[in-house]
Amino acid sequence: MLMPQSYLSNSSPSVSCVTHTFQKPCLHGTSYYPSFQVGSRPLFQNKRSERIRARNGYNNSSNKIKAVAVSEQAEKKTVKVKATITVHLTVGGFFSDLSLERGADDITDLVGKSLLLELVSTTLNPKTKTEKDTIKGFAQKTCQIVDKVKYEAEFEVPHSFGEIGAIYVENEHHKEMFVTEVVFEGFPTGPFHISCNSWVHSKIDSPAKRVFFSNKSYLPSETPEGLKRIRGEKLVELRGNGEGERKKFESIYDYDVYNDIGDPDTNIELKRPILGGKQNPYPRRCRTGRPSCKTDPLSEERVVGVYVPRDECFSGIKQLNFKGKSIYSVLHALIPSLEAAIVDKDLGFPVFSAIDDLFNEGIKLPLLQGEGFLSNILPRLIKFIKDVEQNILRFETPATMDRDRFFWFRDEEFARQTLAGVNPFSIQLVTEWPLKSKLDPNIYGRVESAITTETIEEEIRGFMTVEEAIKQKKLFILDYHDLLLPVVEKVRELEGTTLYGSRTLFFLNNDSTLRPLAIELTRPPINGEPQWKEVFTPAWHSTGVWLWRLAKAHVLAHDSGYHQLVSHWLRTHCAAEPYIIATNRQLSAMHPIYRLLHPHFRYTMEINAFAREVLINANGSIENSFSPGKYSMLLSSIVYDKQWQFDLQALPADLINRGLAVEDPNAPHGLKLTIEDYPYANDGLILWDALKGWVTDYVNHYYAEPRQVESDKELQAWWEEIRTVGHGDKKDEPWWPVLKNKEDLVGIVTTIVWITSGHHAAVNFGQYHYAGYFPNRPTITRCNMPTEDHSDPEWELFLKKPEATLLNTFPSQIQATTVMTVMDILSTHSTDEEYLGETLEPAWAEVPIVKSAFEKFKGKLMELEGIVDERNADRTRKNRNGAGIVPYELMKPKSEPGVTGKGVPYSISI
Ligand SMILES: [Fe+2]
Repeated sequence: MLMPQSYLSNSSPSVSCVTHTFQKPCLHGTSYYPSFQVGSRPLFQNKRSERIRARNGYNNSSNKIKAVAVSEQAEKKTVKVKATITVHLTVGGFFSDLSLERGADDITDLVGKSLLLELVSTTLNPKTKTEKDTIKGFAQKTCQIVDKVKYEAEFEVPHSFGEIGAIYVENEHHKEMFVTEVVFEGFPTGPFHISCNSWVHSKIDSPAKRVFFSNKSYLPSETPEGLKRIRGEKLVELRGNGEGERKKFESIYDYDVYNDIGDPDTNIELKRPILGGKQNPYPRRCRTGRPSCKTDPLSEERVVGVYVPRDECFSGIKQLNFKGKSIYSVLHALIPSLEAAIVDKDLGFPVFSAIDDLFNEGIKLPLLQGEGFLSNILPRLIKFIKDVEQNILRFETPATMDRDRFFWFRDEEFARQTLAGVNPFSIQLVTEWPLKSKLDPNIYGRVESAITTETIEEEIRGFMTVEEAIKQKKLFILDYHDLLLPVVEKVRELEGTTLYGSRTLFFLNNDSTLRPLAIELTRPPINGEPQWKEVFTPAWHSTGVWLWRLAKAHVLAHDSGYHQLVSHWLRTHCAAEPYIIATNRQLSAMHPIYRLLHPHFRYTMEINAFAREVLINANGSIENSFSPGKYSMLLSSIVYDKQWQFDLQALPADLINRGLAVEDPNAPHGLKLTIEDYPYANDGLILWDALKGWVTDYVNHYYAEPRQVESDKELQAWWEEIRTVGHGDKKDEPWWPVLKNKEDLVGIVTTIVWITSGHHAAVNFGQYHYAGYFPNRPTITRCNMPTEDHSDPEWELFLKKPEATLLNTFPSQIQATTVMTVMDILSTHSTDEEYLGETLEPAWAEVPIVKSAFEKFKGKLMELEGIVDERNADRTRKNRNGAGIVPYELMKPKSEPGVTGKGVPYSISI
């Protein structure tokens, strides 16, 4: 449930400050070094001791005793340092209630024993070669400014302490706290920051201390002696021991298979195959250690609120548009409301104007929750009408429909969307003719396609032969034939859905636009009936026109399913989770590559956990609203098995693989595009190059010597774990890139950050634009083509009223409205979205070279903004400019909040 942001009670005004006496710090430091540094800068220029050292001449043995005596005096000198800890008010955190525990915590605050800080030196004791004692001090609450609470501690730091490399934090309260940063003041060189942005658990939950490293990044081989033990131990702690059920406050990263999307204990019909392993290869998810189901020991029991490592959760700073939670709340609250309002779950739309009503009058929903509950969590869609005590679900008109009411009807728009829509990942070049299936003919029937040379040549009307068209790279295909055909029989056993294998052919016009030529739908032999296949083409007779329209609806449902299950879920959300787990288990938080990747992983594990709870689960929104029904996730496993390759996730490699580009050193980005006006590829390649440039500059700085990549033990363990554990079902594939030098590292990291940013934005933020008016992209087709069986009464209905056949084929009212609502939420940028190039991470800001590389990256992204605008204004680019066409802006880095159809966030957070 979405909880409102909590603030301090009246007793704590929004701005309040107190003066106090600091707890006397416990001093454990011993003095050996006559200077003191934080980060790379000396913080304390001990000129006097330097003068003493120079005057007495350390190399002069006759003065040695005297020198030591004077130096010891200097060593006892200390600097008084104040540490200010900023704690953010959060939902459910320490400041959020007035319970007895809270009362006890207030007393803890009052006596000044709230947070215990320990400073850790980077250096060892030079005499004993052991770690120096830490310097401890309690912090006391001093001030609250709006939603930030300040705690302060004072330390007497001996000059000899050396550089501060880390701090330990212990939270003495009963509840966790979200600590954003610690700032030390008092050093001669100015304030020193340690950024945390992390939940610190209560000492009562676990006595383990939290450690935060300074903002300076180190390769493992360069780790200061004083931090080596902590660096190693912290990683061991993060990996856990693979046992027991994970608790909410923990931060343990481990792997498991997808064995929690079924719900056999509720209903054995909801048992689902386990994804991950030899039978159904799949990426791994985060292990939660929940008990097994009673009815199926291999499945994990379902719970509300799935564990994710604590810092992977929405921080609580994300407020009402707390995105993941709003999906959860919406699906739990809205669907019962819809079911109460639309009693017949199979009810379709009787007329097209009933679809329009969703955007005009809306649907009246009964109040199943408290007054105004739904309108609070979904203000864009749901209005609470007080007079009649009802919620009205009224959809915003999608941008596509707003510009052109009939956009979905047009063939050229159908084709254009394969290049500039929400799934520009499926279109590919035809390189072989005739088209043939690779499936077993004994099971699936004749392998030869029914789309013949004559079919195509009739469509292109003597313009050229098929042979010439293939030679000139003019024929393209959306090929969902061999992928879908094996599951058609199973899907057709389900109620309220159907499926075909499909092929859709397009011809590339000279102006870079595509023209649909033919659609082939195939049904394998079923129940003694032979294979059925039929080719549909654009027509100039009413029967043909309507059949073409129906065939398009089937193809669009196939494309919608592939988009959601593969281009979106599998290739971004699902494939990225192992990268996140491995990064936390194998790369220290002080590793430069960890710090480069970290912004790209924000909230992904939590949004994936929500997806397993309410979207991809048995009886969830995907199963209930997409053609493959309960086989949806299995289908994504089949694609992972047969198609997914890490190396093809890089944009240039993906384009080359689909025949949409060839390498050309003289062309921009080193690629010649087969379709020049391919908006996703045109803009995406600029973004890819910007990301690659930034990653290259960053890697070059930290890996000055080429051999450092191979000798970086953490890095090698990280890549090994991604290949052999997180994506372990693919571990023996030959295509995994090796990680031996800087170029390899740049390639791997750029691919990962592209997936979390550019690729995800391309498939995510246009969803409402293109699927908000569902006839443009129905997610399911519920009826077979009427020509499959001419003796069926459906054929008679089709001849009498083809519009009714199309409406019966489309999703039901509940399916359509559920998907439209989910698409709306998924397409929404929250007010605190973190877009590429916007925030300079504290660790990046520490290093001038990295900082300037980031500025360069930022500049390239700003340039891209302008280029996208220019391209959208260019009339010759017909795939993004024209009457009623929505400009292609999905690769534009910046956006305002809301459903904008643009903006590239760092991470997959929705
Ligand atoms: Fe997404």
